[in-house]
Amino acid sequence: MTKAIAIIVLAAGKGTRMKSSMPKVMHKVAGKTLISYAMQSVCAILPKSVTLVIGEGMDEVVKEASHAFPSVSAVVQKNRLGTADAVKSAINGNSELNNFNGTIIVIYGDHPFIKPQTLSIMIEKLQKRNNASVVVLGFNPENPGEYGRLVINKDGELDKIVESRDANEEQKKINFCNSGVMAIRGRILPDLLKEVKNNNAKKEYYLTDIVAIARDRNLRCFVAEASEREVMGINSQKERTLAEKTAQEELRDRALENGAVLIAPETVFLSDDTEIGEGAIIHPYVVFGPGAKIEAEAVIKSFSHIEGALIKKSATVGPFARLRPGAEVGSKAKIGNFVEIKESVIGDGAKISHLTYIGNAEIGDEANIGAGTVTCNYDGYHKYKTEIGENAFIGSNSSLVAPVKIGKGAIIGAGSTITKDVEDDAMAFSNAKQKNMPDRAAIYKKEKKSNKK
Ligand code: UD1
Ligand code: CA
Repeated sequence: MTKAIAIIVLAAGKGTRMKSSMPKVMHKVAGKTLISYAMQSVCAILPKSVTLVIGEGMDEVVKEASHAFPSVSAVVQKNRLGTADAVKSAINGNSELNNFNGTIIVIYGDHPFIKPQTLSIMIEKLQKRNNASVVVLGFNPENPGEYGRLVINKDGELDKIVESRDANEEQKKINFCNSGVMAIRGRILPDLLKEVKNNNAKKEYYLTDIVAIARDRNLRCFVAEASEREVMGINSQKERTLAEKTAQEELRDRALENGAVLIAPETVFLSDDTEIGEGAIIHPYVVFGPGAKIEAEAVIKSFSHIEGALIKKSATVGPFARLRPGAEVGSKAKIGNFVEIKESVIGDGAKISHLTYIGNAEIGDEANIGAGTVTCNYDGYHKYKTEIGENAFIGSNSSLVAPVKIGKGAIIGAGSTITKDVEDDAMAFSNAKQKNMPDRAAIYKKEKKSNKK
């Protein structure tokens, strides 16, 4: 039987190189925070517990992490004394981790792309080998630079990890490096940590030192291997953009594999959770924020921005449409240019073709909303609802002052300001009566001309 798994996520780093007041792991790639990536990948291996090591004042990080794992425990590392000190803080702060009878995985909160399968391979290696105490995830970077070097012995086992700053010339030539991800036998981890010293170039307590400490006790250490892309960490804005670029490429490929038609994929920006159905056509320059779901055969035209919205089968959206969270567009409905929709359900086959704001509304099937219609949903304090029945026709340039209901099949005259409910099949106008003055325009122009010096 596989043993229990406990996860420790290190995220106490302030991320000074990001030059931002936000904790580093709250930065986003493809619309998702770094901490959410790390959390979702560890949750996929069904851990018994997840302990998050954070710095002071990082409550928003804990909140974000709890979406993936509601019972996540957060431990504050008082002083940032190194990765071994961070793991010690986790153990001191969560008694479950002391003498833990299973595997402890240590992962960094700023490494978004670690695959759950990789963690499973590491766990298996640790559990199946005799006397195995640590499994380290290694990789062969293009430039080993500042990474810790993995020193492998003649039996192919891991002897020690040497940090770049502490490495001699010979060790610096090693290209196989430490990703930072480790699987450790829970029962021995507290003992190994006790022996970690800070007599190194950075005067930090290095977690990497537990490998040599375990070897001294005749315990065995192993490596697993991942690609550089999988283990990439994000330390600067530049690195975030590199991650964004590869994430976008992968998301576009995934959408194409699922049968979406991206006319010019390199111009379409997706979020990690964007869902696009088979045969849906996405024109160039469309941006999908988080929470967008596009059903089969829908068409999204250029320069549309879609976030937190559901677009049902065969609907058409854009060009230049903005769908905000809570927008739901019915099947075969048509949303045209310069239409903004928020928190509203649009019925099947309804048409909102131009220059319109729809907020907190419910619009029935086959309704037709004229150009320039505005749902006046906010009085500066509260939001109110507009209901429009099926087959209703709203004349152009109407203001619907919520709360208000327009009945089924009703017609609203162009330019109306509607403040009272309109019953089914009724016609409503609110505009001032029109007055025509014969010849008045011609007289007016003549007067103006003769006054001109
Ligand atoms: C670490 C590894 C190095 C590896 C590299 C991979 C050590 C000693 N070195 O180096 O072998 O090649 O990662 O990227 O482990 N953190 C805390 N508290 C601390 C210190 C760090 O929570 O006191 C967190 C940071 O937020 C970060 C992670 O641990 O998420 C790694 O720390 P960092 O200082 O970036 O380690 P590196 O020097 O990059
Ligand atoms: Ca780092």
